[in-house]
Amino acid sequence: MGNDTKNIILTGDRPTGRLHLGHYVGSLKRRVELQNSGEYDDIYILIADDQALTDNADNPGKIRDNIVNVVLDYLSAGLDPNKITICVQSALPALHALTFYYMNLVTTARLSRNPTVKAEIQMRGFADEGLPAGFFAYPVSQAADITAFKANVVPVGEDQLPMLEQTREIVEKFNRIYGKTLVLPKAMIPENETQRRLPGVDGKAKMSKSLGNCIYLSDSAKTVKKQVNGKMFTDPTHLRIEDPGHIEGNVVFTYLDAFCNDRHFADYLPAYANLQEMKDHYCRGGLGDGVCKKFLIQVLEETLEPIRAERAKWENHIDDVYDILRDGTLRAREVTNETLSEVQQAMRIDYFNNRNIIKEWEKIIKEQHI
Ligand code: TRP
Repeated sequence: MGNDTKNIILTGDRPTGRLHLGHYVGSLKRRVELQNSGEYDDIYILIADDQALTDNADNPGKIRDNIVNVVLDYLSAGLDPNKITICVQSALPALHALTFYYMNLVTTARLSRNPTVKAEIQMRGFADEGLPAGFFAYPVSQAADITAFKANVVPVGEDQLPMLEQTREIVEKFNRIYGKTLVLPKAMIPENETQRRLPGVDGKAKMSKSLGNCIYLSDSAKTVKKQVNGKMFTDPTHLRIEDPGHIEGNVVFTYLDAFCNDRHFADYLPAYANLQEMKDHYCRGGLGDGVCKKFLIQVLEETLEPIRAERAKWENHIDDVYDILRDGTLRAREVTNETLSEVQQAMRIDYFNNRNIIKEWEKIIKEQHI
């Protein structure tokens, strides 16, 4: 029981769309590094389709279609099914059972205080339309996800910290009431600002499908060029090339911060040794946005082209993708069922594991007659 020795990672995504550059810098890149670090005994990546249904109940087709897109994005970004386990939430019934038990360890008042869920309720208009109970309670199901895998490390974006906090509270309460059973997890969040939040190409805080400001990992080179040249927000006061420019809020430079290194300058823009020199020139005046954007496209393509090529290969073998997902899910089913058994034992609701309870019941019935 428990997990005092193993290093286990669980993280996941809602399959509501293809993954974009924001996902890449914020999580995918690091997952690949963690996978290759050799420091973890097990790494599980959960495709949280049930969680996605909590605000898409009327559109299950969208979730169904995007499961394959998300797996393709994982595989093409370098996640290796020989090193990690990719699995689908809806096919793991232990998660549903755990969610139901954990619901009793959380108050509705506590759920109402979750700042991420609060913001999402506003964004989705649930405040006016009515709030699905499943959506309201999804942090509880996320606690089930994390604990079912006995994860001690959960790499997530900053917006997920409230989920981890709630998970920890549930774990502590469970262990206090029923005896030490569950592993207390901790969040691992991206180190620097650009990793934490890559803005959309239009400069809006977040890449989002509905805003049309994303660069998807699966976009063609032509589309990437169009997004950068046609839509990327720069410095509205930088009207002529010789005008002094500003870096703050200039999306081209935000993306360069996230993606470029000195070698890129040697290869594509040898006039500068590094990004700082380029920024200095931009601020002084005399460096046009066209040159900056052309360089950024070259830099982005170094990340995107290999991903695109890998995706093209997998897209011709969807049957293999299916097998990877099924095998991973079956493996995950064993692990999560094991945890569910331990939880039911701790709660003493494991009535049919053995016949011991017959004696207990007989004794109770006898005493009722005294
Ligand atoms: N809520 C997460 C998100 O929107 C996805 C998720 C579901 C998750 N279950 C998880 C993340 C378990 C980490 C661990 O990004």
